[in-house]
Amino acid sequence: MQTVISWHEHRVERQARAAQKNQRPCVLWFTGLSGAGKSTLANEVEQCLFRFGHHSFLLDGDNIRHGLNRDLGFSDGDRAENIRRVGEVAKLMTDAGLIVLSAFISPFHKERESVRQMFAEGEFIEVYVDAPLETCERRDPKGLYRRARAGEIRNFTGVDSVYEPPLHPEIHLRTHLHSASQCAERIVQQLKLHGYLRSYPRS
Ligand SMILES: Nc1ncnc2c1ncn2[C@@H]1O[C@H](COP(=O)(O)OP(=O)(O)O)[C@@H](O)[C@H]1O
Ligand SMILES: [Mg+2]
Repeated sequence: MQTVISWHEHRVERQARAAQKNQRPCVLWFTGLSGAGKSTLANEVEQCLFRFGHHSFLLDGDNIRHGLNRDLGFSDGDRAENIRRVGEVAKLMTDAGLIVLSAFISPFHKERESVRQMFAEGEFIEVYVDAPLETCERRDPKGLYRRARAGEIRNFTGVDSVYEPPLHPEIHLRTHLHSASQCAERIVQQLKLHGYLRSYPRS
């Protein structure tokens, strides 16, 4: 087939966009079981970044499924496509100079790794939001475990679909042992420590 698409270089470069925003763009990729605390922590971190004057955007599982990914279900194939598209959107947003927070169960190691491969070294920060299944099920903030156990929801991660924990996450938080504000504080500290919130050098 003849190729009819080509890549266009932008006159305003990626690094200039980041420099204008005084930050080093990255994606904080929150992964974990439903109810582990991804949305809670991503929101808390984003509020904190916003207060410091940083430019960010939060991509949250449910919201994306209302729009961009509303054609996708929860089969393994659709979950993989869901994550691939979110990865592409996150990539565009980091190109735009933003710090992206994504809060998706993203249960499969292979899909998370393929998103990591889209980014330069150090730009993809995997945040493992870890809590035992029993804890998540007790929290059940949206009543989904109850419905999954009752057979009303199929392919529910942790119940009848697997969750593959990250092998080497950049940040590992145990949300059954520490409060949400302690966990969020730790993420912000890591961002500061590794220079994401310092001025980005102008070239
Ligand atoms: N350390 C913690 N971090 C995040 N959430 C926590 C923590 N401790 C308790 N929670 C509670 O657990 C629930 C997590 O829900 P949510 O953030 O919607 O999970 P997820 O987005 O992973 O499905 C919330 O009710 C939150 O208040
Ligand atoms: Mg959530």
